Amino acid sequence: MCGITGYTGSARALPVIMEALHRLEYRGYDSAGVAVEGKDGFFLKKVKGKIDDLDAALDGVEIEGTTGIGHTRWATHGEPSQKNAHPHFSIDRNIMLVHNGIIENHDRLRDRLPEDIEFTSETDTEVLVHLLSENYDGDLTEAVRFTLGEVEGSFAVAVVHRDEPGRIVAARSGSPLIIGCGGEGNYVASDLPALLDFTNEVIFLDEDEIATIDSDSITVQTIDGEERKKSVNSISWDAVQAQKGGYKHFMLKEIAEQPQVLRQSMRGRLDSEAGIVKFPNLELDDSIFKRIEKINLIACGTSYHACMVARYWLEEMTDLHVEVDIGSEYRYRSLNYEADREMLVTVSQSGETADTLAALRKVSRLDVPVLSICNVLGSTMAREADDVLYTHAGPEIGVASTKSFTTQLLVLFLFSYYLGRLRGSFEGDRELLEALEQIPDQVDQQIRDREIYQKIAAEQFKKEDFLFLGRHLNYPVAMEGALKLKEISYIHAEGYPAGEMKHGPIALIDEEIPVVVLGPHSRVYNKMLSNIEEVKARGGIVLGVCMEDDKQGIAEMCDYLMPVPDTEELLTPFLTTPPMQILSYELAVRRGCDVDQPRNLAKSVTVE
Ligand code: AGP
Repeated sequence: MCGITGYTGSARALPVIMEALHRLEYRGYDSAGVAVEGKDGFFLKKVKGKIDDLDAALDGVEIEGTTGIGHTRWATHGEPSQKNAHPHFSIDRNIMLVHNGIIENHDRLRDRLPEDIEFTSETDTEVLVHLLSENYDGDLTEAVRFTLGEVEGSFAVAVVHRDEPGRIVAARSGSPLIIGCGGEGNYVASDLPALLDFTNEVIFLDEDEIATIDSDSITVQTIDGEERKKSVNSISWDAVQAQKGGYKHFMLKEIAEQPQVLRQSMRGRLDSEAGIVKFPNLELDDSIFKRIEKINLIACGTSYHACMVARYWLEEMTDLHVEVDIGSEYRYRSLNYEADREMLVTVSQSGETADTLAALRKVSRLDVPVLSICNVLGSTMAREADDVLYTHAGPEIGVASTKSFTTQLLVLFLFSYYLGRLRGSFEGDRELLEALEQIPDQVDQQIRDREIYQKIAAEQFKKEDFLFLGRHLNYPVAMEGALKLKEISYIHAEGYPAGEMKHGPIALIDEEIPVVVLGPHSRVYNKMLSNIEEVKARGGIVLGVCMEDDKQGIAEMCDYLMPVPDTEELLTPFLTTPPMQILSYELAVRRGCDVDQPRNLAKSVTVE
């Protein structure tokens, strides 16, 4: 998500905007910029990199202007670069604009512009500032209103014009925008943290509203021009609390974001009525997907667990041979690739994991097609692969992967479905896609139900060993549950294929060990019942994950129950995962651990 800031008042604008930009860093970004009113027009500075890099580029710069705008960019159109950074400017540099969102009809809007207008960036945003310049007739608010009336997509914008000093025009549709008032002037920002160092008095802009912000006045109207009376809210949070949106930790906030980002990740990719999946931005030719006989999925950590789940989906919906491996192991294997019969799929939230990158580079030298599934646009993996599918989870701040995992699952499921239909091995299943469309709401329901997990945590947080058992599609989820628990609570936890219990791990079972058993309705349900009986017979503590309506089955046998909503068997990993995330979170909190920044861990492992 990009971040917008703006200020107009009695103080010098540059330091105010820079401090506000620092407060938006938590949102994740790849470039930043600022524009401030100066004696001879706007002073503009943009960098690829961090706010500290922008600070360095501004070292020694003294700008007296008391009005300006700033931006942190999370790239969606056009890779991270200085020229793609905001603010964007009109040809005569009389207008400066920052934007958060996606202009879906930017191509069509661009066709309306005079041909001699030279674009300086690859962004969708730039078309706005040139259109504004064409539409400006002495009233910036009117020009913004008219221009945004032509836009399809989502936007939050802040705009300044040289001929209207001291004024910021801000508008939103689909992306948040908040106005701060009082203090030494008036402010605008994408999010509260950028305002709370300066004022706690804020006005929340609603959908399709435009604000005309001067240093001593704020007027709000609708995009249709109707005057709006807005209330001023007093915010009790401090800036750090606001960055977490009121949640205690980023991890909890990101667990709660899963319904929204799953919908975001589905958008434009499935049509349940027709029973089809599509990837409009996929560039690799369908002939490759039809030609291959084998697909290799490579990743690390949580992303590897997503690949493990995907293997079952690919084997279920396609006729492909599927291999899954860990990046750090795969890179040392003596591979007998058949370049025209295989492809590599790398999965990575950061797109910077050294071990996965090494595997990608090893294989791409063999002229084998490589598809990356990433969350970070413009990341190394996204650029080095032949093609990329984005998970659209937005920035993930907590070190423990949560929303990036479930959106990886979503893209891998959709990709499996797409391949199956393309290769003619799977005719499609409308009911399956309709059930998939229900998943975000079902996850939303699960996330609200935290008392179950808080009770378990209160009674089990002193345990030093946990075992997680699953079969088939839910064996990887057991692995993921164990990884989540160990990485944020430091409790030793193992994920195991439940069928392996009798081959060794059953020796671990005694009255002290909690055993998480994933037992949703499935072709292996009865086998999971047997596993629970094995554990109970040896005094183990069973924490059962099962369907809500399974009261007479697994439920009665468990010491604790983590119910999940009913869904299609193939989709159960989407609903058995949130209990793993929330259970780990509550146990880690009870143990007083640093949930967002666990010891010894980095968010992106860019070293081998
Ligand atoms: C999982 O919670 C960890 N953050 C870690 O295992 C992570 O999944 C792994 O390092 C891979 O990262 P990537 O998805 O960015 O490649």
